[in-house]
Amino acid sequence: MTTRETLAGELTKARDRTLRLVDFDDAELRRQYDPLMSPLVWDLAHIGQQEELWLLRGGNPNRPGLLAPEVDQLYDAFVHSRAARVDLPLLPPTDARNYCATVRGRALDTLEALPDGHPDAFTYALVISHENQHDETMLQALSLRTGAPLLDYGTALPHGRPGLAGSSVLVPGGEFTLGVDAVTEPFSLDNERPAHTVDVPAFRIGRVPVTNAEWKQFIADGGYRESRWWSAAGWAHRQQAGLIAPLYWNADGTRTRFGHAEQIPADEPVQHVTYYEAEAYAAWAGARLPSEIEWEKACAWDPQSRTRRRYPWGAAEPSAALANLGGEALRPAPVGAYPGGASAYGAEQMLGDVWEWTSSPLRPWPGFTPMVYRQYSEPFFEGTASGEYRVLRGGSWAVAAGILRPSFRNWDHPIRRQIFSGVRLAWDA
Ligand SMILES: [Fe+2]
Repeated sequence: MTTRETLAGELTKARDRTLRLVDFDDAELRRQYDPLMSPLVWDLAHIGQQEELWLLRGGNPNRPGLLAPEVDQLYDAFVHSRAARVDLPLLPPTDARNYCATVRGRALDTLEALPDGHPDAFTYALVISHENQHDETMLQALSLRTGAPLLDYGTALPHGRPGLAGSSVLVPGGEFTLGVDAVTEPFSLDNERPAHTVDVPAFRIGRVPVTNAEWKQFIADGGYRESRWWSAAGWAHRQQAGLIAPLYWNADGTRTRFGHAEQIPADEPVQHVTYYEAEAYAAWAGARLPSEIEWEKACAWDPQSRTRRRYPWGAAEPSAALANLGGEALRPAPVGAYPGGASAYGAEQMLGDVWEWTSSPLRPWPGFTPMVYRQYSEPFFEGTASGEYRVLRGGSWAVAAGILRPSFRNWDHPIRRQIFSGVRLAWDA
């Protein structure tokens, strides 16, 4: 397949998914499920607006586009906060769908005309990544929605293997290559580059993410009641927000998932916890969170060949036998579900299932150069005005396989937990 065909296929796949996530009536699409999230119709038109901006307007917002300037600016995420978007004079759902379709038709035409090896292929990949990231955001919104379920239970997942929860693998000390570059990963984003050598002292890391059963022990042992496990900022937030369990856990011992109340699966990775909860759990368990550098080494480094693997398991493209990705399952897989997906060090489920909180603030790698979409990473680095973030790694069940790499970096505020976030522990060795 040519790069053009791959990009066209990924654009179509992302759009099919987007349209399924907005296949609801107009009133539903205009609803704001939670002040943390946009109405779905905002995400929909924003996907089209960004696609038009980057692929048809050369990234220049002053270049005329299909929308009137006063409408176009409604979809600037830096201008309108999520909480305020519901009150904007947004495009009605039908207009938003038509707009997205028109933009897509023209984008596919320009792709068709793109010479092989043209640097603009990266911009198409960026747009694909953007749409898929918003699909995950829309799933977060749909999860916060109350009322009779709109989505069913999700597709079946492989069974787990017993005895893995709480176990760890050793990552011996030594140098490895952190990050990637344009030659090996042409569609990697600016904050994943450049590849560079880092020396990492030996550490142990959880073979699998922390499970719901383990989290229940933390709760039963008074984990949410004892300040000694929490950082000062974490305890202040726990008090202020009244946290007593992960988001969506109910007092009767069930959890609610996309409107369905169900028993909490013991061997599933815990999901919907803040960074502060992750940190407190780790302290209670006699562990700590991994740094994102440790995480990436455990995920991607092959100590035998002294090279990076493209994926934790090797070069094969992700598949349903290797990782839980793509969003169809609507939940993480039980631990041990993907023995074939293990990294060289034996860590499992590093890609997919849950985003894993790391102890790292978002910082540029040495030699960082912003990409064409300058505002993707730079405004969020540590020391900028936008606030404090922690990096999450590995993607969740909701992430499209085509946009994920071991080097992919996500970040969020330490108090957020509507995201599909979980925990993997680490220990000094
Ligand atoms: Fe966006």
